[in-house]
Amino acid sequence: MSSDRQAVVARHLAKEVSSGTQTLTILHDVSLSLPAGESLAIVGASGSGKTTLLSLLAGLDRATRGQVLLDGVDLGTLDEDGCARLRAGRVGFVFQSFQLLAGFTALENVMLPAELAGYADAPARARLALDSVGLSARLEHYPAQLSGGEQQRVALARAFCGEPAILFADEPTGNLDTETGARISELLFDLNHQRGTTLVLVTHDAQLAGRCTHQLRLRAGRVI
Ligand SMILES: Nc1ncnc2c1ncn2[C@@H]1O[C@H](COP(=O)(O)OP(=O)(O)O)[C@@H](O)[C@H]1O
Ligand SMILES: [Mg+2]
Repeated sequence: MSSDRQAVVARHLAKEVSSGTQTLTILHDVSLSLPAGESLAIVGASGSGKTTLLSLLAGLDRATRGQVLLDGVDLGTLDEDGCARLRAGRVGFVFQSFQLLAGFTALENVMLPAELAGYADAPARARLALDSVGLSARLEHYPAQLSGGEQQRVALARAFCGEPAILFADEPTGNLDTETGARISELLFDLNHQRGTTLVLVTHDAQLAGRCTHQLRLRAGRVI
């Protein structure tokens, strides 16, 4: 599923945050380019800037300097609504902290973005997505009734339910046992191979990182 089209491009990204009188640079001059249909593993020690980079690439946060292009669209030219619309149509995101809605069941959490994206068959899609992460018996459970690993799988199902062109996932196997982690890796690469979904993964899992066509290692906010 490779093509010359670049799904994700970053040019000289920098992210600074100010704390009191000090400016802290979290990312320094990060550039990358990922063709559509391929996969990128972002690796590095805790605190190296992986989550920050993923958020910038997915348009969830703004860079201090530099440029991000998603499917050729420069995120810097979009306002917040424009960014949200682009994400709704093309981007799936699995947060490190899952960010499930506490007042909604697993099924409702997964269904919501597909409904917002206008899929008439959102409930059926959501059931299928939950089935493929092994949670068909947990449809009516609320996040508080699920283990960390189960919540992670609900978050993953939610992210791919709307068939995004690009799936961003922050440590998608981080809370899973080896066997469940392997199953989730299979699922991610099935999406990649069968639907051509571009994957951008933050991971500590060397095996998962090794399966990606591209790897990027951060150390203290710099690509090494
Ligand atoms: N909003 C913020 N304000 C201040 N520091 C931040 C903020 N976000 C992240 N950081 C700091 O930036 C560094 C990188 O964070 P993060 O991207 O979460 O790293 P990783 O995901 O690799 O563990 C950390 O030192 C973190 O404490
Ligand atoms: Mg992180």
